[in-house]
Amino acid sequence: MTAPLLKISGLNAGYGAVPILSDVNLTIQEREIVALVGSNGAGKTTLLRAVSRIIPATGLLEFAGTDLLPLSPEEAFARGIVQVPEGRQLFGRMTVEENLLMGCRLRRDPGGVRKSFEWVYRLFPILAERRRQLAGNMSGGEQQMCAMARALMAAPRLLIIDEMSLGLAPVIVDQLLVVLNDVRAQGMTILLVEQDVFAAFAVADRAYVMETGRIVREGNVTELSKDPAVRDAYLGSD
Ligand SMILES: Nc1ncnc2c1ncn2[C@@H]1O[C@H](COP(=O)(O)OP(=O)(O)OP(=O)(O)O)[C@@H](O)[C@H]1O
Ligand SMILES: [Mg+2]
Repeated sequence: MTAPLLKISGLNAGYGAVPILSDVNLTIQEREIVALVGSNGAGKTTLLRAVSRIIPATGLLEFAGTDLLPLSPEEAFARGIVQVPEGRQLFGRMTVEENLLMGCRLRRDPGGVRKSFEWVYRLFPILAERRRQLAGNMSGGEQQMCAMARALMAAPRLLIIDEMSLGLAPVIVDQLLVVLNDVRAQGMTILLVEQDVFAAFAVADRAYVMETGRIVREGNVTELSKDPAVRDAYLGSD
């Protein structure tokens, strides 16, 4: 097996003196789509903050064989760890295009940036139509598309998406799931955090289930969907 793109082992993290994550183990291979699911307050966003180096952590955290722990959020971003944050956090008073330009601000390959623009506008034609509109004036679904496009403009190696489907109509969520497959086809790797386990399992190869700061289950999504504990807690009964 090839070395994982992201390797997390025995990771602990929290806020100040308050521990949240304990002994988290998670790996992602290049070009995988991995889902991290769990209920409110389980610690999913906290784990993403640790990976993006926003909060301190101890344990092992490696990206493409490099130790991430000493890096700042900017350094992690520069290496290709790019987040679509919970709540999108667009620059609402900037246009769609200005938001996308923020995503590629560190790139020094104008030809590549031009290709990325063409690609994200092909993925999200509505953003091409609205490129001169203020991001804050768009619908929730369009804003999520803009947040994803902004992240893709950074040419991420690992795209991390926190609660992509939150508050969106199922038809929009389906469109976004299709886009994730296109993103993977471009050679990118995706870590998808979702409370909507159905949506996450529809697109992911493997998943991890987190409860109170610990990983309690992991496996490929077909196996996990059959796991009675996962079904009861996250997929409802049918
Ligand atoms: N900035 C913070 N300072 C202190 N505690 C925090 C902070 N952010 C989150 N927490 C706490 O950390 C725990 C995990 O929260 P986190 O946001 O990681 O959960 P989550 O799994 O992402 O939940 P959700 O599905 O609601 O987004 C919760 O108990 C939460 O109250
Ligand atoms: Mg969260």
